Amino acid sequence: MRYAYLVLALVVIGTVSIFGFRGSISTKPPLEVFPDMDRQAKYKPQAESPFFADGRADRPLPAGVVSRGDLRADDHLYLGKATNGNFAAGFPASISIDAKLLERGKDRYSIFCLPCHGTIGDGNGITKSYGMGSTPTYHDDRLRKMTEGEIFNTITHGKAAMGAYADKLSPEERWAVIAYVRALQRAQTGSINDVPASHKSELGIK
Ligand code: HEC
Repeated sequence: MRYAYLVLALVVIGTVSIFGFRGSISTKPPLEVFPDMDRQAKYKPQAESPFFADGRADRPLPAGVVSRGDLRADDHLYLGKATNGNFAAGFPASISIDAKLLERGKDRYSIFCLPCHGTIGDGNGITKSYGMGSTPTYHDDRLRKMTEGEIFNTITHGKAAMGAYADKLSPEERWAVIAYVRALQRAQTGSINDVPASHKSELGIK
């Protein structure tokens, strides 16, 4: 019998604590069950701090600091520039030109360049039929002789009616695209002597 009273008391307390104060208004602050979670010993971004002389919680970075893995010391790779500050000829040492790079270059070229520069790089992309006639062909001497570094610079910053691709293509992807542009250029001037002997039969040539 004693237990019955106890159970009844618990049911009443439970009911009152869940439903009893609904709708009643209090001006007191809410109960903080775990105050250390509500009030953490930390600064939010751009908050004030009386601890530092300049009153800012955010501390300025030490001079020359670079976030981990983001040191861009290689000018050839990241700017297309040689040590003398001119546009670099050739590809950076860390870029190996193989089928994988060309595949990647073809893929990125097809997405980002082909609409203007065309499938074979002759400047006859779809945008031409919509009135954008200023896209040059890659197949003239000026662009054949242009250094890889200058092409890198054009992709990075854009030129005249061409937009910049620094935010769409990583430096490595830009080099892959350049390798593909070079392949497009070579394809236009190729002769039968460029075809490896093992593939000549496919062309019906002995
Ligand atoms: C919106 C159309 C458009 C797209 C997309 C585009 N280009 Fe161009 N590109 C142009 C035009 C227009 C020019 C000529 C700029 C000028 O007047 O000098 C040009 C010029 C160039 C040149 C020659 C620059 C020079 O100094 O003469 C290169 C190289 C080039 N583009 C590469 C690329 C590559 C690589 C991509 C893809 C990442 C690309 N372009 C995407 C329109 C485009």
